[in-house]
Amino acid sequence: MRLPFVLCTLAFAALSAAMSGCDSHAASANTNASTQPAAPGAAPQAQTRAEVFAHVKQMTSLGEKLFFDPSLSGSGKLACASCHSPGHAFGPPNALSVQLGGNDMHRPGFRAVPSLRYLQSVPAFTRHFHDSDDEGDESVDAGPTGGLTWDGRVDHGADQARIPLLSTFEMGSTPARVAAAVKASPYADDFRKAFGGSVFDSDDKTFAAVLQSLEAFEQTPAQFYPYTSKFDAFLAGRAKLNDAEMHGLQLFNDENKGNCASCHISQRAKDGSPPQFSDFGLIALGVPRNRALPINKNPKFHDLGACGPERTDLKGQDEYCGIFRTPSLRNVATRKTFFHNGIYHKLDDVVRFYVERDTNPEKFYPVSKQGVVEKFDDLPKRYWANINTDPPFDRKKGDKPALDEAEIRDVVAFLNTLTDGYDPAKDKDSQKGIGIGEVKSASN
Ligand code: HEC
Ligand code: HEC
Repeated sequence: MRLPFVLCTLAFAALSAAMSGCDSHAASANTNASTQPAAPGAAPQAQTRAEVFAHVKQMTSLGEKLFFDPSLSGSGKLACASCHSPGHAFGPPNALSVQLGGNDMHRPGFRAVPSLRYLQSVPAFTRHFHDSDDEGDESVDAGPTGGLTWDGRVDHGADQARIPLLSTFEMGSTPARVAAAVKASPYADDFRKAFGGSVFDSDDKTFAAVLQSLEAFEQTPAQFYPYTSKFDAFLAGRAKLNDAEMHGLQLFNDENKGNCASCHISQRAKDGSPPQFSDFGLIALGVPRNRALPINKNPKFHDLGACGPERTDLKGQDEYCGIFRTPSLRNVATRKTFFHNGIYHKLDDVVRFYVERDTNPEKFYPVSKQGVVEKFDDLPKRYWANINTDPPFDRKKGDKPALDEAEIRDVVAFLNTLTDGYDPAKDKDSQKGIGIGEVKSASN
């Protein structure tokens, strides 16, 4: 079992990664180099800790302004926050499978908007992941793991931010347009203060500073990894889970039932850091084709995840086709669209897919006139060997599903405990149910 990376500290991980020499993997995917003081036009190297701290703080505050600023986009109408809604854990603001963008605001994307919370512990992409937390055996290769976006194609927040800014179906902008917007913005002076006067010398310099600021903002603990869910309160002994939630947790963990925790890890890491509800592995689940997506009107189009089309470095390597990064399930109940192609809109439908994909495939895939189920209809047959067959996907047609309807409801009740912003003091039922001290298996 893979466990998530270590956090240096919950307080200002970006900063501590830059300052404290904390060499854990917390300085991973998006806490790396670019939060360090070597910013374009920044002051010379020998900075004191206080100066580094001040610089990160300035970048963070600028990043927040940029994140909410639609003037960076080609249409002038789309901000990062339009798709990554702060009220929805920085996930989609609505139930659309994919959002609209581009210069006319009518161009659909083809992937669901992921939450931007808890990305601080996503490791850099690797084809062969060896986890020191893996039951004492580091020789186990857990396969392709990590990286940002559904296909893991970039490792740093700054590189990632470039994608939506320049994508023709997202913000549809250019470095020149972004630079002009920043120069004309009310925060232009703050930009000079943070990066030095030369930041406006060239569009490329300004653009690089924009990307770094966005990355710094995405690492603000209070907004991006607050750990304030009911489940966190439960782990800390400050709340109890009711019967449905506790039963749901057990089903989530049980290898013979949901077996969800084998990928969406629910236990603390060995160093005691909180569970991330993902091992960040890239996995093929054989999610059905979302026929509502305009791009899927073309029968030849397939979103193959790590082997393309968005990602290009693994193109033509069959073993990477159809795999997508396991998302964290923290705040999943704030979403109304699920899986990389946004095919489902209710959590119980997602859980039902897991437990009935193989026992009742006709519920999820098209059935031909002859009554043949077109299973895995979004993945060409030559890649089917990649599709996961671990429990609960280890059954065959007609078998009993791993969870019944009542159990699916309980798993969903448990998933609802993963939403940030829970306050035990405001929940009169917070002390009703089962506390962490009373369970052995729920957590350790
Ligand atoms: C039109 C909607 C849209 C806008 C606007 C948008 N994004 Fe995204 N964002 C997405 C989608 C869709 C993905 C998944 C992309 C993929 O997998 O290829 C994504 C992925 C991401 C990720 C990676 C998340 C993960 O789970 O690895 C980050 C970080 C991110 N966006 C930040 C930003 C920033 C910063 C901006 C503004 C500069 C922005 N986004 C603007 C739709 C949007
Ligand atoms: C073998 C690893 C694996 C197992 C086991 C697993 N998941 Fe997942 N989960 C994934 C991957 C990979 C995705 C993304 C798949 C995609 O979009 O193509 C995902 C996506 C999800 C999503 C959608 C999240 C989002 O933001 O769209 C939910 C909800 C979810 N899983 C819940 C569960 C539950 C509940 C179980 C147990 C019944 C479970 N998972 C078991 C790997 C796994």
